[in-house]
Amino acid sequence: MTKKSPAAPDLDPSGLRKGLTSYGDNGFSLFLRKAFIKGAGYSDAALDRPVIGIANTGSAYNPCHGNVPQLLEALKRGIMLAGGLPMDFPTISIHESFAYPTSMYLRNLMSMDTEEMILAQPMDAVVLIGGCDKTVPAQLMGAASAGIPAIQLITGSMLTGSHRSERVGACTDCRRYWGKYRAEEIDDQEISDVNNQLVASVGTCSVMGTASTMACIAEALGMTVPGGATPPAVTADRMRIAELTGAQAVAMARQGLTIDRILTADAFENAMRVLLAIGGSTNGIIHLAAIAGRLGLDIDLKTLDRMGRDTPVLLDLKPSGQHYMEDFHKAGGMATLLRQLKPLLKLDALTVTGRTLGQELELAGPGFAQSVVKTMDDPVYPQGGIAVLEGNLSPGGAIIKQSSADPLLMEHEGRAVVFENAADLADRIDSDALDVTAHDILVLKNIGPKGAPGMPEAGYIPIPKKLAVQGVKDIVRISDGRMSGTAFGTIVLHVTPESAIGGPLAYVQNGDRIRLSVSRREISLLVSDAELRRRQELKPISPPTAARGYKKLFLETVTQADQGVDFDFLRAARPGDPAAR
Ligand code: FES
Ligand code: MG
Repeated sequence: MTKKSPAAPDLDPSGLRKGLTSYGDNGFSLFLRKAFIKGAGYSDAALDRPVIGIANTGSAYNPCHGNVPQLLEALKRGIMLAGGLPMDFPTISIHESFAYPTSMYLRNLMSMDTEEMILAQPMDAVVLIGGCDKTVPAQLMGAASAGIPAIQLITGSMLTGSHRSERVGACTDCRRYWGKYRAEEIDDQEISDVNNQLVASVGTCSVMGTASTMACIAEALGMTVPGGATPPAVTADRMRIAELTGAQAVAMARQGLTIDRILTADAFENAMRVLLAIGGSTNGIIHLAAIAGRLGLDIDLKTLDRMGRDTPVLLDLKPSGQHYMEDFHKAGGMATLLRQLKPLLKLDALTVTGRTLGQELELAGPGFAQSVVKTMDDPVYPQGGIAVLEGNLSPGGAIIKQSSADPLLMEHEGRAVVFENAADLADRIDSDALDVTAHDILVLKNIGPKGAPGMPEAGYIPIPKKLAVQGVKDIVRISDGRMSGTAFGTIVLHVTPESAIGGPLAYVQNGDRIRLSVSRREISLLVSDAELRRRQELKPISPPTAARGYKKLFLETVTQADQGVDFDFLRAARPGDPAAR
């Protein structure tokens, strides 16, 4: 009989045993770990239970997460009432307006931080507190790769404000008012007044931007408790969701309900349906592709487009409609939407509750009269919010948010007015000398994943000032970048492959003719193949590089939009995919 280590019997709490630091002696490793947690004031009784990690993304630089201290308190209450031990830990937090050069550049870094800290520290399940645009996808990507039981807690949307008796909210109204200011329709005093009202509280943008989109997608994926997407940040409903999330995390730890059982192909199909039906942010596609990629799954753009033809936009929220997130919540939130979409959903997909989406919908009851979520017979827009375009300008696909585009411009042929990069655009867009009319097509190059780098939201090219002051509100715009989910206009995005790696977009010249036909799903450069080849030979492209640091890693390994702009080495290896290692 081997002699028992003297420290072994009571040094065996469930969660703390996980992933022992290597000192070459597991008994000693656990002994040390326990000494340090005792040093923080924990008793043996506190340790002998499931350990629930909490990814704490509170940050002074992230007002969208300004309610995290209250959420933590409610979460911890929920965890402890259910018999678990809450252990919060910091990770990177990213806010859209405070991240340079663009939040997307940092999303993968946050996902790596999340994955590695989940794996490095002992926990039986993890709660991910996310809200602002890139945080939820980063957390789901990281948790998917870490593979333990995980549940998403959304911070919740901000409240709407009021400007001269008009209801306003970030960020669709930020853009609308800035457009008015550029067109000299409002003065310095008014733009300063409205600045006080656009973000009326902590929480995420109040329209169907990327944060709201990802909140709805997280619930559609089954990654939040039912009703977890919509309560505003500062409400009691949001705090009760946090308490419930804590309790559910303990149940998941006990059941060993790992994330791969929830994030299945069916769950992603449900998420795509919801993305289309909410008129969701175009960024949602990129994030879904990145999350799916971590599990060896692909988001096929052609499938998305096919689904879009029989999935109408049902949610009447800005920028496709008129309401805000708090209205959606009062209208019953995601249950109201999912009830309408039920015939199109995979109802057997499992959720964090251990029940299926179909079972959760039954439990949610019959619904009530409201006007925010429309019916399939009377939708906001007859097709899905996003259409996928193809053609010689974008062999790997491009997208357009048709539900917030000008119907008159969706079948359009025009002359290209080309900007070589974001700096060129900033230099010339407001110049009186710019040769441009409302019938032209603005083309912006070098704002793709490698080009900028980080694929900034510069695809929302402003209306040239000389046209804006004439009252022009929309013009066809094309780029390899992204745009904010809160933006609107006839804007073609995610042109793949991007210009910085020599995609056809790189070879568009001033005066070329371009054809956009959303009905035919076409984006074409009306230049012959021979002429395109001649231009390519004349000016071969060398992709951008960096000498050191995160930028070097980024430029060497980032994938294109269709693979989620994830790093190739973070995607799950799959047969026949040369990008995966
Ligand atoms: Fe954070 Fe809009 S800036 S959600
Ligand atoms: Mg945004």
